[in-house]
Amino acid sequence: MKVLSIVGARPQFVKLAPIAHALQRAGHDHVIVHTGQHYDANMSEVFFADLGIPTPDVHLGVGSGSHGVQTGTMLAGLDPILLDHDPDWVLVYGDTNSTIAGALAAVKLHLPLAHLEAGLRSFNRRMPEEHNRVLTDHAADLCLAPTEVARGHLAAEGLSNRTVVTGDVMTDVCLATAARVRDTAPELPPGLAPGAYILATIHRAENTDDPARLADIVAGLASLPHPVLLTAHPRLVAKAAEHGIDLGHGSLHTVAPLDYPAMVAAIVHARAVVTDSGGLQKEAFLLRTPCTTVRTETEWTETLDLGWNVLVTDLTQLPPAVDRPAPAPTDAAPYGDGKAADRTVAALVAHQHDR
Ligand code: UD1
Repeated sequence: MKVLSIVGARPQFVKLAPIAHALQRAGHDHVIVHTGQHYDANMSEVFFADLGIPTPDVHLGVGSGSHGVQTGTMLAGLDPILLDHDPDWVLVYGDTNSTIAGALAAVKLHLPLAHLEAGLRSFNRRMPEEHNRVLTDHAADLCLAPTEVARGHLAAEGLSNRTVVTGDVMTDVCLATAARVRDTAPELPPGLAPGAYILATIHRAENTDDPARLADIVAGLASLPHPVLLTAHPRLVAKAAEHGIDLGHGSLHTVAPLDYPAMVAAIVHARAVVTDSGGLQKEAFLLRTPCTTVRTETEWTETLDLGWNVLVTDLTQLPPAVDRPAPAPTDAAPYGDGKAADRTVAALVAHQHDR
């Protein structure tokens, strides 16, 4: 079997790692196409190096741009690549512009399409990711769902007969990495100590692109009564600079994005996490660090139901949310057992000739 993976953004490299290893273990051919959506070394290369992912076979180098330009440039670049490799499966990951571009390119060429992390929904139609994931699920021949909640969403949209629940591949890589780094002290700026800092990330368009909203979020983080390790996505840095918002005052200690093992170590040793990232909410739960999510909703509702995550939109509620009592311990495993990548490969083999 020949699988062609299309990735481009940081969270997709994390998801690609266990899939690349599982395909290799099972002796399948794997072609990796990097769209170039993320291109800074600390947003891209370090993930390939740290997670042992083979160098991409093809790099489209599309870079940043408006949604239309970015997605359209990917589409134009993908056609000849897909025709040339003629894979048994095109595999797309998550919900970014690289996902929807890969999905459209595949189905227009009548190539079988599988969507990893299918069935997640925020039901917030102002999020670009929500359109990317809904449209990709409906284009896909095989929806690889991480959870039973995701299976339910796919069923409600009439996609049951194309759905397989595999578990979550980010859980595979998170648990494996945590086992390696759990006893390693995280690298922290002066003044921060393990167990005594809050780890924060903010990058979503709905939080960064409105200057008043961004100023409120930064002020909320800066006012927290514990040091805040803010690992800053380039979009946050660019928007803060554009609007004259200082990322270095109050409790804030702003650093560049961390590589994956360093991020896992930083989560393990944080007293709490504040984020608008989907992946980080789930990693915080897996590593049992309480999380506060600066969004109106989350796709990973299991983290809310189990009490390890709360949503905050009114920033005056951030300090009490961050300092809330510890959630009840749980051994619930809604995201699987760390073997989702092997089940994903098995599903690709089993459904190879369905069409
Ligand atoms: C994208 C995904 C988002 C995902 C996030 C993870 C879409 C619509 N969104 O958002 O779902 O959570 O990746 O990080 O695909 N930039 C750089 N260097 C880089 C990459 C980006 O400087 O290597 C800056 C550019 O100013 C760029 C901006 O960040 O315009 C936004 O990048 P983009 O890839 O458009 O979206 P993300 O916000 O990263």
